Amino acid sequence: MEMNHKSEVSTLKNKNKQTNEKETLTNQQGHPVTDNQNVRTVNNRGPMTLENYDFLEKISHFDREKIPERIVHARGAGAYGYFQSYGTVNGEPVSKYTRAKVFTNTEVQTPVFVRFSTVVHGKHSPETLRDPRGFAIKFYTEDGNWDLVGNNLKIFFIRDPLKFPDMIHAFRPDPVTNVQNLERMFDFISMSPEALHMVTFVFSPWGIPANYRHMQGSGVHTYKWVNDEGKAVLVKYHWEPVDGIKNLTQEEANKIQATNFNHATQDLYEAIEKGNYPEWELYVQIIEDGEHPELDYDPLDPTKLWYKEDFPWHKAGKLVLNKNPENFHAEVEQAAFGTGVLVDGLDFSDDKLLQGRTYSYSDTQRYRVGANYLQLPINRPTKKVSTNQTGGQMDFRQDYAEHKNPHVDYEPSLTDGLKEAKNPGVEHEPYVEGNLQRNAISRENNFGQAGETYRRLNDWERDELIKNLVSALSGCQKEIQDKMVEMFYQCDQDYGKRVEVGLKNSISSQADKMEDAVSKADQMGHVSDPY
Ligand code: HEM
Repeated sequence: MEMNHKSEVSTLKNKNKQTNEKETLTNQQGHPVTDNQNVRTVNNRGPMTLENYDFLEKISHFDREKIPERIVHARGAGAYGYFQSYGTVNGEPVSKYTRAKVFTNTEVQTPVFVRFSTVVHGKHSPETLRDPRGFAIKFYTEDGNWDLVGNNLKIFFIRDPLKFPDMIHAFRPDPVTNVQNLERMFDFISMSPEALHMVTFVFSPWGIPANYRHMQGSGVHTYKWVNDEGKAVLVKYHWEPVDGIKNLTQEEANKIQATNFNHATQDLYEAIEKGNYPEWELYVQIIEDGEHPELDYDPLDPTKLWYKEDFPWHKAGKLVLNKNPENFHAEVEQAAFGTGVLVDGLDFSDDKLLQGRTYSYSDTQRYRVGANYLQLPINRPTKKVSTNQTGGQMDFRQDYAEHKNPHVDYEPSLTDGLKEAKNPGVEHEPYVEGNLQRNAISRENNFGQAGETYRRLNDWERDELIKNLVSALSGCQKEIQDKMVEMFYQCDQDYGKRVEVGLKNSISSQADKMEDAVSKADQMGHVSDPY
């Protein structure tokens, strides 16, 4: 059982109703429940009879209360709010770059739902773990939904989607023991040099954000903005928390985790209840569409930063979260975000990781939530839906999607069925040519930015990074340690040296600790069962 921790906001008060009037309990058929304490039995000791409809309904529904948790990012918290575009970017109208109304129309505050999350562990795992944090936003725009499914960190471990399932397996608990074993993680990383940059962030204090309100967000991938003429630029999105960024050292995180493993969810919920609404400013980086051979990395590579000094951050809008969900399961658990969910004026880049993700999200959601997951209030757009995609389990669209002529559930048709929309602007038609092949990108440059990030950390952050890496690697076999040290050297000489020395020292201090632990265990007594 979780340790009890003090909450500043009571959730037992009825916030929706000012009246003391009591509501009558019913079953799901609307029948009043007159006894919710006793099943029907022959005499009061039983046996029980099978026509107990209220009991059967209640227990059968309970048996199905949970849906499969997300395959990653299972632990999360969500909130509603709005996004407001500033209408300009770097002093120019944003319409120069994109015709997306969510950016060009400054008259509207676009409603949003945001879900924050950790990645690796299950739905009730501690929120203090060293892990990237998810930052997924659903914009209910006037042109339909746009999802920006990002993380707190600006880069990612890998650049090829084929590696994602292996990466997640390696990070998860061992399939035999169900215990997370960092040796498995570093085994994978030691063979995936592109991960070194992300590892440098994740093992520094940036790997444990203090909560969800004081962390950044990033779209990570390169996307495209498309203007009225169908011209595209490459764009990256970043969210900057107005109240500043706060991260935790491992020691601070351990202290919180000892008494509370919901601290980030609780912090977000309570801040919003108290009217202390979290805010982020959206910044964009924009560069010309193209391969940019002048860079020593590929601009589409999600393991790389676009440095601010090369590509300045321009303010583009504001995100405010001002309302908590009323039902965690319905709104947060069933929320379904996907990288394929774009609106006119926003487009994909050729980033392979992004393209791989785009299949994965809606695929898992059809399994996790159901074929008609897009009909749920949390997922459906505020814009009217007119589609011939009907049927499937739990199709209840009639409450929101009108069909002009429901007899014509096909298109094209000469009668009055649904008609194709007019293209809202000139189509962006990128030119693509080449041989189909299986190859890594040419400008991998796996260590350059990792070294630069190492040098740019504050001294205390660098100290923490070394301490955390040494502690994590000290349980790995020598071959993995050696490979990791060799790669840290390639990032930066000092980086490699410090991990190498740290590991040597930790081996001798571990031997001392073992002796200590053995003698303490000997002194401890056994207890006998008093019952
Ligand atoms: C969740 C796949 C990379 C951010 C998920 C889910 C899947 C998935 C299957 C569960 C979705 C659901 O059940 O609703 C992948 C694959 C990736 C990848 C295949 C790489 C090929 C990334 C990257 C980011 C990211 C690079 C950050 C930019 C997220 C977030 C969620 C998520 C924030 C949670 C969304 C929510 O709150 O519901 N991912 N992912 N993922 N992923 Fe990824």
